[in-house]
Amino acid sequence: MIIVFMGPPGAGKGTQAQILQENLQIPKLSTGDMLRAAITAGSEVGKKAEALMKNGDLVPDEVVVGIIKERIIQADCATGFILDGFPRTINQAQALDKMLKDNNLIVDKVICLDVNPDIIVARQAGRRIASKSGCVYHVEHNPPKVPGKCDVSGEDLIQRDDDKEDVVRHRLEIYADTVKPILEYYESQSLLHNVKGTSSVEAVKTEILSIINQK
Ligand code: AP5
Repeated sequence: MIIVFMGPPGAGKGTQAQILQENLQIPKLSTGDMLRAAITAGSEVGKKAEALMKNGDLVPDEVVVGIIKERIIQADCATGFILDGFPRTINQAQALDKMLKDNNLIVDKVICLDVNPDIIVARQAGRRIASKSGCVYHVEHNPPKVPGKCDVSGEDLIQRDDDKEDVVRHRLEIYADTVKPILEYYESQSLLHNVKGTSSVEAVKTEILSIINQK
């Protein structure tokens, strides 16, 4: 099972991909998380990505395609995986299909979460993340059991650098400029499922699970 999550920044991709990872027992591959880990590690990839991510710009296609190419051949991806934040350009979507084809695989479903920009800005201001576990929280809508601590790893929760309002609005503009051809690409293959991302986390989860369980 290979699932792609799409949607604007803050639509809930990471939140729902994490839930699905636990339900389907296949890993969530978030290019954003991988790039943030590369920045923390000070690797070459991290150096290329750091300033771009801080400003809310996209990291070059060849960098993210390289990361995903290496990741999907690891043992834990053998029965499937969930892509969160990749592909983000039509070039990435085509590169994904090529690397899957080389491994006799295909994308099974594409879930696109739809949320209006003003809701997104409010959501991002309240978002807190756990960098080691990859869990995502919101101070009001999806709080951890102990304030400031991850439910899974117990680590301190942090706020992302790119969650400031001006950077969020820039990320939303980039999404609007790049998403159309990717949605058309998946729609033409009858893979695209649009889901209203403004319902509760639980209601969005239920709708996604029903889509995943459809043949
Ligand atoms: P990335 O980390 O992928 O960020 P994003 O796509 O902008 O998405 P977000 O993580 O901001 O939001 P989300 O949709 O996952 O929402 P979440 O579940 O957290 O990318 C960051 C940067 O890395 C990019 O700007 C770019 O520079 C670079 N990058 C990454 N991938 C790349 C690629 N493929 N190509 C090029 N560059 C790339 O939820 C948000 C908040 O809302 C949380 O607080 C959550 O608790 C809350 N929430 C979630 N669902 C609900 C709900 N239903 N109701 C109320 N609150 C909710």
